[in-house]
Amino acid sequence: MKRIIVAIDGHSSCGKSTMAKALAKSVGYIYVDTGAMYRAVALYAIRNGWMTEDFIDEVELKKHIGTIKIHFQTNVEGLQETYLNDENVEKEIRSLEVGNGASRVSTIGFVRQELVRQQQAMGVEKGIVMDGRDIGTVVFPQAELKVFVTASAEVRAQRRYDELRAKNMDVNYEDVLANVKERDERDTTRAESPLRKADDAYVLDNTNLTLEEQNEKLKELFEEKV
Ligand code: DC
Repeated sequence: MKRIIVAIDGHSSCGKSTMAKALAKSVGYIYVDTGAMYRAVALYAIRNGWMTEDFIDEVELKKHIGTIKIHFQTNVEGLQETYLNDENVEKEIRSLEVGNGASRVSTIGFVRQELVRQQQAMGVEKGIVMDGRDIGTVVFPQAELKVFVTASAEVRAQRRYDELRAKNMDVNYEDVLANVKERDERDTTRAESPLRKADDAYVLDNTNLTLEEQNEKLKELFEEKV
C-alpha cells in the first residue's frame, strides 16, 4: 500500500488532533501535532521573559530560534508527549496562557519559517499525519489527503472546557469561549500563512458528529486515497 501525507487543518479546539491521532494509530503512521511546536516556542519565550502580555522581544527570540529543539516521544501509556530541549513540557504547554502565547508567536515570520522547516523534514518519508493551520497550504501543499476541520465556536469552547476541567484546571466556560474566538480571529487574519482551507481540501464539519463518526469519516477518506 502506498504511504501518503495526510494534512489536517482547522480552527482551534475542533478535534483535529483527536482524529489525526486516531488515524495515525490505526494505520501505523507518525503523528505530528504542529500546534504543540508553536506552544513550545511560546513557553520558551515566556520562560525567558521575552513575552509579556503586550510585548514580544523578537530580537532575542530570533537570536535563539535555532537553539529551540522540539521532538515528540510516546510515553508508557502510548500517548505522544512534547519535549522542549529534551524536557517533557506536555502538561505545561496545554495551559490557556501558553495557547494564547502560541497564537501570538505563530504570527511571526521567522518562527513559522523555522517550524515549517522542521515539519517538512519530518515528512520526507511520508507515512505521516500532521495537524495544524497551514499544513495543506504551506507545509505540504503536495499532500495526498487534505482535510479542513471545523465546528461552531460554542461547541469547540465546550469541548475545550471539558478537556481542561478533566485535567483539573480552574477555568470557566465564558473565558474559554472568548479565548476560542480571539484565537480564531488572530489565526485567520494574520499576515503570515493565515488559516485557510486549501482549494483541494475536504471540509469536515463535526459540530454534529460523535468522535466515532468523525474518525470513521477520516478513515474512509484515507482509504480512498491509498
Ligand atoms: O492547535 P493548537 O491550539 O495547539 O495551536 C496553538 C496555536 O498555534 C494556534 O493559535 C495557532 C498556531 N498554529 C499555527 O499557526 N500553525 C500551525 N501549523 C499550528 C498551530
